[in-house]
Amino acid sequence: MENNKVAVIGAGLMGSGIAQACAQAGYQVVNIDTFETAVEKAKANINSLFNKKVEKGKMTREQKDEILGRLTYSGSFEDVKGAFLVLEAVPEKIEIKKDTFRKVDAAADPGTVIVSNTSGLSISEIASVTDRPDKIMGAHFFYPAPVMKLLELVRGLVTSDETYAVVKEFAARIGKTTVDAPEFPGFMVNRILVPMQNEAAFMVMEGSSPEDVDNAIKLGCNHPMGPIELTDFVGIDTMLATMTGLYNGFHDSKYRPCPLLETMVKSGMLGKKTGNGFYKYDEKGNKIGSNF
Ligand code: CAA
Repeated sequence: MENNKVAVIGAGLMGSGIAQACAQAGYQVVNIDTFETAVEKAKANINSLFNKKVEKGKMTREQKDEILGRLTYSGSFEDVKGAFLVLEAVPEKIEIKKDTFRKVDAAADPGTVIVSNTSGLSISEIASVTDRPDKIMGAHFFYPAPVMKLLELVRGLVTSDETYAVVKEFAARIGKTTVDAPEFPGFMVNRILVPMQNEAAFMVMEGSSPEDVDNAIKLGCNHPMGPIELTDFVGIDTMLATMTGLYNGFHDSKYRPCPLLETMVKSGMLGKKTGNGFYKYDEKGNKIGSNF
């Protein structure tokens, strides 16, 4: 019988969305996070998202129950056992990624492919802490993961063709279009997108209003979201980490992170998820004003 089990490590914004996308595509999913509060939040979010879809008539109650029936949660890495594929989506810090890969490598079946959702760290470096570097590669989702159609595939120096084929087939099954991105910081999308968000933050720091910067790009370039609201949406900490990765990775001053972003992260203003970023949000996530 075909192995239909995938494990997703991390139940934050990205991990929970990836788990949802996999369950919707028919996979049996275990979403693992050692922080119980993250798991509780992930469960509450998916329930509320699906309830809205049922209310809008975009999903039946039966479909909701069926998808949620394929999605389980755990606090133990041991539950990666039996999965043909493990998708890692823990915070974007190399030491956290390496620690996670060591643990998953020790617990997973020998043939299991392990992918990282890193948005720019080195796949080869992450793979180097495992005993299966040929079975490691990058599969970078975009937020919100169940909605965004792209999956960036990133091969490490020793990723095998078999591993690539497994991930490519998985991508097709969850309905994503893939691009082959180079193993350099930012891969493909973030190397282009995040410097734009960073430049937008500089403009706010220099006195432009967030609304003006967002309207300029939304109405002038037809983007669905402006760069400032997008930064709040994905998390200012996540965006800053990616920008810092570009700066450190290319050793090029053109990628210097905007100091305002650093101050905001230090002060706990992380965007929509904390209710406070460039904009202010109510408990339901509706924008209620601006901080600049
Ligand atoms: N999680 C899951 N699903 C979500 C969601 C979320 N957080 N937010 C919205 N959705 C779903 C909704 O349920 C809805 O689905 P249905 O059509 O089945 O009802 C669908 O998305 C559309 O939502 P809405 O009608 O509420 O809103 P919208 O039409 O304005 O679309 C959007 C929302 C898809 C987020 C759109 O604004 C958009 O495409 N924004 C740009 C997003 C973007 O650029 N993402 C890339 C970020 S960069 C990145 O991710 C890189 C990284 O490394 C972090």
